[in-house]
Amino acid sequence: MRFSTAASLLLAVAPAALAQDLTGLLQALNSTGHSRLVSLATQLASTDVGKSVLSQLSSGSSFVLFAPTDSAFDSAPSNVTSDPTLLADVVAYHIVQGNFTNSDTHYTNVTLGRTLLSDPTYVQLEGNKSQVVAWNDPTVTNTTTAGNITIYTIDNVLSFPEPLSSTIPADNISLTGVETALRSVEVSTFNSTTNQSGTSSLFDVLDTQLHGFTFFAPNSSAVQEATNAISGLQSNTTALQTLFQNHIINGTTVYSPLLSSQNYTSAAGEPLHFILNGTGHYVTSGNVTAQIIQPDVLLPNGVIHVIDRVLVNTESDSGAASSAASSASSAATQSTSATAPIGFSATATLAGPNGSVQSSGSSSHSGNAAPGSMHTMPSVAQVVSVGMAVLGVVAGGAFVLA
Ligand SMILES: *[C@@H]1O[C@H](CO)[C@@H](O)[C@H](O)[C@H]1NC(C)=O
Ligand SMILES: *[C@@H]1O[C@H](CO)[C@@H](O)[C@H](O)[C@H]1NC(C)=O
Ligand SMILES: *[C@@H]1O[C@H](CO)[C@@H](O)[C@H](O)[C@H]1NC(C)=O
Ligand SMILES: *[C@@H]1O[C@H](CO)[C@@H](O)[C@H](O)[C@H]1NC(C)=O
Ligand SMILES: *[C@@H]1O[C@H](CO)[C@@H](O)[C@H](O)[C@H]1NC(C)=O
Ligand SMILES: *[C@@H]1O[C@H](CO)[C@@H](O)[C@H](O)[C@H]1NC(C)=O
Ligand SMILES: *[C@@H]1O[C@H](CO)[C@@H](O)[C@H](O)[C@H]1NC(C)=O
Ligand SMILES: *[C@@H]1O[C@H](CO)[C@@H](O)[C@H](O)[C@H]1NC(C)=O
Ligand SMILES: *[C@@H]1O[C@H](CO)[C@@H](O)[C@H](O)[C@H]1NC(C)=O
Ligand SMILES: *[C@@H]1O[C@H](CO)[C@@H](O)[C@H](O)[C@H]1NC(C)=O
Ligand SMILES: *[C@@H]1O[C@H](CO)[C@@H](O)[C@H](O)[C@H]1NC(C)=O
Ligand SMILES: *[C@@H]1O[C@H](CO)[C@@H](O)[C@H](O)[C@H]1NC(C)=O
Repeated sequence: MRFSTAASLLLAVAPAALAQDLTGLLQALNSTGHSRLVSLATQLASTDVGKSVLSQLSSGSSFVLFAPTDSAFDSAPSNVTSDPTLLADVVAYHIVQGNFTNSDTHYTNVTLGRTLLSDPTYVQLEGNKSQVVAWNDPTVTNTTTAGNITIYTIDNVLSFPEPLSSTIPADNISLTGVETALRSVEVSTFNSTTNQSGTSSLFDVLDTQLHGFTFFAPNSSAVQEATNAISGLQSNTTALQTLFQNHIINGTTVYSPLLSSQNYTSAAGEPLHFILNGTGHYVTSGNVTAQIIQPDVLLPNGVIHVIDRVLVNTESDSGAASSAASSASSAATQSTSATAPIGFSATATLAGPNGSVQSSGSSSHSGNAAPGSMHTMPSVAQVVSVGMAVLGVVAGGAFVLA
């Protein structure tokens, strides 16, 4: 029997106290049809990340475990199950600390929680924060508990968020116009490892260099509409830089549930104001208000919220920009132990009872889509597979700035 073999292997490698608690978890997993996950659990003890995951799970704290079904593992890339190091990171991305079962803590459209995935190969958020996962109620097909661990059955293996350069080539987030624009905007950079200053395109800064940011990314039709305004600035590098810096929060990854309780300062030092009302979620910079049409596109090093208008604002305040960046970097060093949905507070806008919202027509996607990908956000896997299909077709349509 798969379970007994797996469990006894795990008992052989794990300290007795730890094994005690995990037996209940493994049993609960086995009895809800997760025999692949049970057998994969035996491999966890062979890596440091895996050991840490096992010891946290057996600590008595509350966790949510997203448990892919056996068939989800069958359709996952083979390295997920064959490479123990990758497997441990994958499992870490399926575990969120805290008890999320209280229905009061569900947002209208999405719940975001911080996972145990902190491997710097896959996550480069400010303050070495671990990666988040986003989901909504219909994602979870069954719920059970084992001690303080809530097991959510899901029918896909979650994939890690991928960098901007892999996320953009997807027709469903239509950011190719802004990619062209960002690639043409050069900003000065300072590499603290090599102590060298230089220049990079704003695109490269967001793709790999900046650890922790929020980018309000106008979709391609918004960029098209602003062609005149933007091309009028082509000869003024500073103005162009400023305009795009007004779309960025430098040093802080702000997920959508946090975008109504606080205003932020842009990387150009201008205020960004937020409104959440009956028609949606809006961001204002200068005299332009844009609607957030796709929140929480997760990246290894930040987050994108897709908006329907370019925030044409060339005002800046360098003092405000650097003081915002420095408070962001000091805030990032404060340790956080998130054990509730991100952005949850008693005064936030909350959903009705669990499951009362958005339960149909939300997913026409299949495969390795992350839970949060359903309807409100694309999963990385989805983006990549769509991206492969459309790559090479998307270069046209965008204006050229340089
Ligand atoms: C594990 O689940 C299988 C059915 O999927 C069942 O036959 C077996 O008895 C279970 N093992 C334990 C130890 O619960
Ligand atoms: C579950 O959590 C409660 C409260 O944090 C704790 O008292 C209890 O010992 C935990 N249960 C297990 C099985 O660890
Ligand atoms: C695992 O395999 C997939 C698909 O073959 C590939 O895209 C991915 O980069 C691999 N991951 C690692 C960490 O090697
Ligand atoms: C769903 O979970 C319950 C326990 O909460 C379990 O009895 C039931 O068998 C599970 N259903 C499936 C399809 O695994
Ligand atoms: C989560 O908290 C609720 C109370 O809000 C409690 O009833 C439930 O047992 C807890 N679940 C776990 C798995 O700790
Ligand atoms: C700084 O330079 C090092 C060495 O060339 C490089 O590996 C690293 O990626 C650079 N860091 C940034 C943020 O560009
Ligand atoms: C460039 O734009 C900035 C506003 O961002 C403005 O202050 C400056 O005067 C402009 N320079 C020229 C040469 O038009
Ligand atoms: C954000 O800015 C708007 C417009 O200035 C203001 O009405 C609102 O009170 C501010 N919100 C917070 C939380 O400061
Ligand atoms: C919500 O705010 C936006 C932006 O200010 C506004 O255009 C819209 O009419 C408001 N909707 C409602 C229902 O108040
Ligand atoms: C939640 O989803 C519904 C349906 O897709 C949408 O109309 C609404 O604007 C969303 N609410 C927020 C706050 O994003
Ligand atoms: C918005 O502000 C810009 C200056 O930043 C100005 O040129 C433009 O006319 C304003 N638009 C409206 C509709 O007020
Ligand atoms: C973010 O802030 C740091 C520190 O002030 C600065 O060096 C960097 O250029 C800023 N990045 C952007 C994209 O504005």
